[in-house]
Amino acid sequence: MKNYKITLLKGDGIGPEIVDEAVKVLNKTAEKFNFTVEYDEALMGGCAIDATGSPLPQETIDKCKASDSVLLGAVGGPKWDTLPGSQRPEAGLLGIRGALGLFANLRPSVIFEPLQGDSPIKDEIIGGQLDIMIVRELTGGIYFGKRGRCDDEKGNPAAWDTEMYSVPEVERIARVAFDMAMKRNKKVTSVDKANVLESSRLWRETVIKVSKDYPEVELNHLYVDNCAMQLVRNPRQFDVIVTSNIFGDILSDEASMIAGSIGMLASASLAEGTLGLYEPIHGSAPDIAGQGIANPLATILSVAMMLRYSLNEPEAADAIENAVNETLKKYRTPDIASADTKQVSCSEMGDMVCSEI
Ligand code: NAD
Ligand code: IPM
Ligand code: MN
Repeated sequence: MKNYKITLLKGDGIGPEIVDEAVKVLNKTAEKFNFTVEYDEALMGGCAIDATGSPLPQETIDKCKASDSVLLGAVGGPKWDTLPGSQRPEAGLLGIRGALGLFANLRPSVIFEPLQGDSPIKDEIIGGQLDIMIVRELTGGIYFGKRGRCDDEKGNPAAWDTEMYSVPEVERIARVAFDMAMKRNKKVTSVDKANVLESSRLWRETVIKVSKDYPEVELNHLYVDNCAMQLVRNPRQFDVIVTSNIFGDILSDEASMIAGSIGMLASASLAEGTLGLYEPIHGSAPDIAGQGIANPLATILSVAMMLRYSLNEPEAADAIENAVNETLKKYRTPDIASADTKQVSCSEMGDMVCSEI
């Protein structure tokens, strides 16, 4: 029987609550599909700062590297918001992405059938269906560029960050997007700010060069401000969106709401091999932490992505997605509540998905 080693980074805020539900679902799936899972927990984020003084202890990096896959809840919270940048919980998250070489972040925005009509965007605009794959570059750009504090020319205190992309960095993320499009509807929209930023002009030139290897894929370009608008005007025009680290961060939160709630969107962060880190796109939601009302489905769906992209268990992944779809017909957490379904807690939601599996 196959055995998979998974490192759990539960993190802060709602992180532990949602990861516990995802583990329940993974265990149930393992039983059904005849594999076993061995878990190891490691500290990252605020909890790691409290326990060790560092947001990303070396032990955590080592454990992640030694595992088949990593499942993350979320990190951060007001308790650590005044720490210097390099010591914040978020620095732990960026650190693990960098240390594991997780350059490709896949953020699918899909509407589950029972949630049709529950989006804040009118149903006639969405047309009942949404299936957008945002491919976000994850280990470069302004998140990883040099930054600092200085004085401006008048002596006023100032600060700076830098956006830099190299051609190989853009090429490899573009290839991920085009390969993805070949398995989908063969359309890639590259999003940049090439009317202003030099790094975006290089991005666009490079994406165009890579597109020559994919003659079947239709490529178009949008400026990020227009893309933000187009996502609510006509989201059906999109298949695969490829974009930089910061633009992908912002556009994926927007795309999540089109799908009903940020509590529904999963993600996969992938390196060159099969190791991946799987996490909901949302954060630690300090405003609802500890109340048992968080939606665990984004994390549960991240487990489905793990089974598909890292563990090569596509049937188990399908089973989780189908179970989520069935569960949504009857049960909802408060963020996606509806009149004709029963409102449940985070933990009950996990139980309901398990019983559908
Ligand atoms: P957030 O995503 O945590 O929350 C935004 C809003 O969405 C909040 O109202 C929250 O209650 C709601 N929400 C989020 N997830 C939900 C869920 N599963 N179910 C129901 N409602 C949910 O974003 P924020 O408030 O801007 O950030 C809070 C903290 O999380 C910050 O410290 C931030 O840096 C961190 N963060 C971490 C990650 C990560 O670890 N991957 C991602 C984003 C933000
Ligand atoms: C995300 C988060 C992170 C990001 C933060 C917490 C560093 O917002 O995963 O979307 O910006 O990448
Ligand atoms: Mn984000």
